[in-house]
Amino acid sequence: MATVKELVSKCLQARDMAYCPYSRFPVGAAILTADGAIITGCNVENASYGLTVCAERTAVQRAVAEGHRQFAAIAVTCDIKDRFVGPCGACRQVLMEFGSEWIVYLTKPDGSYKETSLSELLPLAFSPAHLGKN
Ligand code: THU
Repeated sequence: MATVKELVSKCLQARDMAYCPYSRFPVGAAILTADGAIITGCNVENASYGLTVCAERTAVQRAVAEGHRQFAAIAVTCDIKDRFVGPCGACRQVLMEFGSEWIVYLTKPDGSYKETSLSELLPLAFSPAHLGKN
C-alpha cells in the first residue's frame, strides 16, 4: 500500500501539470484508492472561465473512468506556503459522492501536511444515502 509520503509527493507532481493560465493558481490532487492505486489530477482552466475543473474533481473523474469507486484518501496541494488550504465546497460534495470516510491530507508546497477527513470538512452533508442509493 502506498505511503502518505508517496501520496503527498504525487499531488505535488500533479500540481506541476496544472493548466491555469487565467488564475495562475496551480492545484494538484492525488487519490489513494482502496486497492492501493494512486490517481492524480490538476486543475484545468478554460477561456470560458466557468468551465474550469478543479484538481480534485479531475482526479475523481479519472479514477472512476479507470474503474475505481472505493477511495481511502486524497492529498491536495496548491502554492500557498504559510497555511493549509482545503478543497472548495464543490469538490467536497463530489468527494462525498464516494463516501464520507475519506482521509484528506492538506499539503503545503514543502510536503508538510495536515490530516483531516471529509466528514470534518463537510459536516451534515447531503449524500447518495438521502436518495436511497446506498
Ligand atoms: N481550484 C482547484 O483546483 N481546487 C480547489 O479546491 C479550489 C480551486 C482551482 C480552480 C481554479 O483553476 C483555480 O484553482 C483558482 O480558483
